[in-house]
Amino acid sequence: MKFELPKLEYKYDSLEPVIDEQTMTIHHDKHHQAYTDKLNAALEKHPELKIKNAEEMLKNLNKIPEDIRTAVKNNGGGYVNHSFFWNILKKDVRLNGKIKNEIEKKFKSFDKFKEEFTSASIGLFGSGWCWLVINENRELEIITTANQDSPLSIGKIPVLVIDLWEHAYYLKYQNKRAEYISAFWDVVDWDKVNKNFVNAVK
Ligand SMILES: [Fe+2]
Repeated sequence: MKFELPKLEYKYDSLEPVIDEQTMTIHHDKHHQAYTDKLNAALEKHPELKIKNAEEMLKNLNKIPEDIRTAVKNNGGGYVNHSFFWNILKKDVRLNGKIKNEIEKKFKSFDKFKEEFTSASIGLFGSGWCWLVINENRELEIITTANQDSPLSIGKIPVLVIDLWEHAYYLKYQNKRAEYISAFWDVVDWDKVNKNFVNAVK
């Protein structure tokens, strides 16, 4: 199976000024492309592998041959995580739908949720991601993953995510990760996040 870099569904400058055009272009065209290419290169070594889709692959890493398992975890993770990330970004969408109620139920208020998510994001050491997921108990949970590790590999379903690799923000925010996280809320596509939530708890 050969994976292709998914096209962005919006223009590279659509998320300005929160995510600048240059960051978006390099992030998608270079970084995401590189994960895609390296994933394909790893899978070429095992043409016998039957893979339904990239998500299934990450859910079943133990079924991937050992000699390419790390490459698939890292590059398959990079491939899927970025596809998921692009998809939940859009300007000017207000928090709405079932996810709104669920966040307010679980975290007491949206502000409290933001606080917890922000502090987990700031607290992540090094490169990785901060997620809102549906966990094994079918409840919302905030988790971080290192590198390109996917929540799918530990039985959790992603609902919302922020990329915390420096490549996601360094050109504009330099070392100020907290400023990037604070601006991120203006480009969360809550319609998509709500859809992810509804699908996850179905
Ligand atoms: Fe990234």
